[in-house]
Amino acid sequence: MKMDEKMDEPKKRVLSGMRPTGRLHIGHIESVLRNWINLQKDHDCFYFVADWHALTTDPSTKDIEYNSIEMVKDWLAFGVDPKQSTVFLQSQVPEHTELSLIFSMLTNIGRLERVPSFKAQLSYLANGNEAKADELRGTISQGFLGYPVLQAADILIYKTDVVPVGEDQVPHIELTREIARSFNTQYGGVFVLPEVKLSYIPKILGTDGQKMSKSYGNTISPEDSREDIAGKVRKMVTDTNRKSKTDPGDPNACSVYDLHLIYQEDESIEIGRKCRNGEVGCFDCKSMLTGPMTDIYAAFRERRPHILDEDVKRVLREGSERAREVASATLQEVRHMMMLDYL
Ligand code: TRP
Ligand code: SF4
Repeated sequence: MKMDEKMDEPKKRVLSGMRPTGRLHIGHIESVLRNWINLQKDHDCFYFVADWHALTTDPSTKDIEYNSIEMVKDWLAFGVDPKQSTVFLQSQVPEHTELSLIFSMLTNIGRLERVPSFKAQLSYLANGNEAKADELRGTISQGFLGYPVLQAADILIYKTDVVPVGEDQVPHIELTREIARSFNTQYGGVFVLPEVKLSYIPKILGTDGQKMSKSYGNTISPEDSREDIAGKVRKMVTDTNRKSKTDPGDPNACSVYDLHLIYQEDESIEIGRKCRNGEVGCFDCKSMLTGPMTDIYAAFRERRPHILDEDVKRVLREGSERAREVASATLQEVRHMMMLDYL
């Protein structure tokens, strides 16, 4: 029978990770976490704290425990369910590093220097000065240059089918597929070539029109009160060409409209029409967001204070144990294919 066939199909493996950044803002939540939650019902999901990755840009470890725990509290409060998904801590699964070492032999330095996040870091350090960027190349740590290789190991060690991430991560998944292909050709087929799953929501900008980021102080948090949210949205930049509320506006040039698309998709067509016809002012348009943006996180705010550090640690301990079983089985296969199991 059709139905039984479907039930017997093994679930696809999903894996994704986040650097431990502490409490999440609505940008992280809507662009990545919502995707995670939607996938966990009918996929075999692995979600992890990429704590080693955090060291690639800052080797200081003093905030890492706090940032990891607080971030995972947000995951759990938002609905990541450790009964359905394997939630783990990267540094508790040392198998990732062995695989990363092997992959580093299959990856050219030139290829890593062409990864956009590497180029962006160089240009950031050099303040956009190209000549200087070249000079600074030698000052970047091996860990930073090589972190996409570690990321490839994170993904491939679980034979992941689907990686739900933001657009900025796509080049890393491309490299991951190249590494998988290269290993499979050289030593024999162990690895699955993973696919990216992007979330198709508009980019959430910060209250100042820049990328939403804690370091810019322009974030909106799911824990913000109704008044906070109203105040922050009121500050947001709209279509800058619009002078008065009866002028026709362009919703596509307005980051507030993007929030309407995310938080009240059904109403957004009508709001877009009114904006274009100069039938709604920006103040009123923004006010309409306060309710939906606050209410959507009500359950989150209710649950979060009840999640204790101890709960998070237990989830991570159990999840890491489970992850290790899968990871070490893959490594055994890898050693066998490489004929390194000769003792
Ligand atoms: N590099 C990702 C980031 O900066 C985090 C990450 C590490 C990751 N390993 C991963 C994401 C594996 C998906 C899969 O956001
Ligand atoms: Fe943006 Fe709304 Fe103002 Fe149009 S009316 S520019 S969508 S805030």
